[in-house]
Amino acid sequence: MHSPKWTPESWKNLPIRQQPDYPDADELQQTLEKIHSYPALVSPGEVENLRKQIASATRGERFILQGGDCAERFIDCRENIIANKIRILLQMSVILTHGLRKPIVRIGRIAGQYAKPRSQNIEEVHGQQLCSYRGDCINGFPATPASRTPQPQRLLSAYNHSAITLNYIRSLIDGGFADLHHPYNWNLHSIEQTAKWPEYKRIVDRILEAIEFMEMFGGVSSESLGRIEFYTSHEGLLLGYEQTLTRSDESSGKYYNLGAHMLWIGERTRQLEGAHVEYFRGIANPVGIKLGPTAQANELCKILDVLNPENEAGRIMLITRFGAGKVNEVLPNLIKAVKKSGHHVAWTCDPMHGNMVTVNGGQKTRKFEDILSELQHTFTVHRQEDSTLVGAHFELTGDEVTECTGGALNLDHHDLHRNYETYCDPRLNYIQSLEIAFAINKMKVGWR
Ligand code: PEP
Ligand code: CO
Repeated sequence: MHSPKWTPESWKNLPIRQQPDYPDADELQQTLEKIHSYPALVSPGEVENLRKQIASATRGERFILQGGDCAERFIDCRENIIANKIRILLQMSVILTHGLRKPIVRIGRIAGQYAKPRSQNIEEVHGQQLCSYRGDCINGFPATPASRTPQPQRLLSAYNHSAITLNYIRSLIDGGFADLHHPYNWNLHSIEQTAKWPEYKRIVDRILEAIEFMEMFGGVSSESLGRIEFYTSHEGLLLGYEQTLTRSDESSGKYYNLGAHMLWIGERTRQLEGAHVEYFRGIANPVGIKLGPTAQANELCKILDVLNPENEAGRIMLITRFGAGKVNEVLPNLIKAVKKSGHHVAWTCDPMHGNMVTVNGGQKTRKFEDILSELQHTFTVHRQEDSTLVGAHFELTGDEVTECTGGALNLDHHDLHRNYETYCDPRLNYIQSLEIAFAINKMKVGWR
């Protein structure tokens, strides 16, 4: 049962999944208190702006693009890696604005995406039983007993790396990084070498013409083109950490998680009677809920009643991730049930997590065609059900990694070893991400 009165720690009274076992409870407590004493990373005003934008997307006026690493790594907290991620999200959003004729709500899986749920607690490496890697804020990736032991100091490091990353993103955006005239933004690098480039180039040229055209009429200045809104998100998994960044806002009396603008509940932790749903019901941020192929319509409606009793628009984003072959079977019932319940939700699709395959004796990958296929089926089912898909969620990076197969460069599983960087799930690389944006525009036939 959920507590009669919510507090930032009432989740502790409910069963909880996917939390690490820390060997030193005192050290954990002291570290959490230290983080609690530090400033928030984002402000309630920014969180409310995002909520209004998601409300507008729910009405079909905007499209939500959410993307970033599966698991951020501390070693990737570098200027060029962060800038490349912002740039690919920006380029995708410009392509989508052009194709869908709608403003895009940009949400990074960034500046805090450091904790991972795992299907197995234990991993066997060279005959040795080790705790699974659970993200840089919990333990280390190297497969040794010392590195895999959960260390509280990593929580502090996660807070610090989030703050550094967010500070750099803010300085990039304030400094005009997103200015659409900035040549850096339209240097599409390697995609120009691919056979698909002539088709894409036509679209890019049209976008550049449109910008010039708007400017001729004085409607848009370079300055406003450079100032975009960008929001951060991560999975709200490690509730001890999330609690430290949960702050009450004196003017509204509401509690916000000020470690990110938006947080989501993962597929493995969304139990109706569980600690995560309890924690999330008390924060005022927009909340995402991941829904896998076993999601039950009646359970989902009950979760929505608990998380959004006032049926506030912009509060809930449903993120479906069934796998390309299961969309037609699972999605229609969920759409029907949510519609019947009267809940306002923003339906988005994560075409990554249901489409994992293992190759080369254990390497995880995803096929570009499966990712596109899940998106296409999801668009189509929404149209058939008189509903609207208003966003998409990707694991991607702005660098030339080789983690997912397919796409314009036609990567196959023999290419994966070349630049396989991820510590967790495979991400779309720079070219594959751009291609996804062009492909969604073609699917807009499904847009109502
Ligand atoms: C993720 O988004 O990285 C993730 C673990 O997703 P899910 O909860 O949908 O499996
Ligand atoms: Co993932």
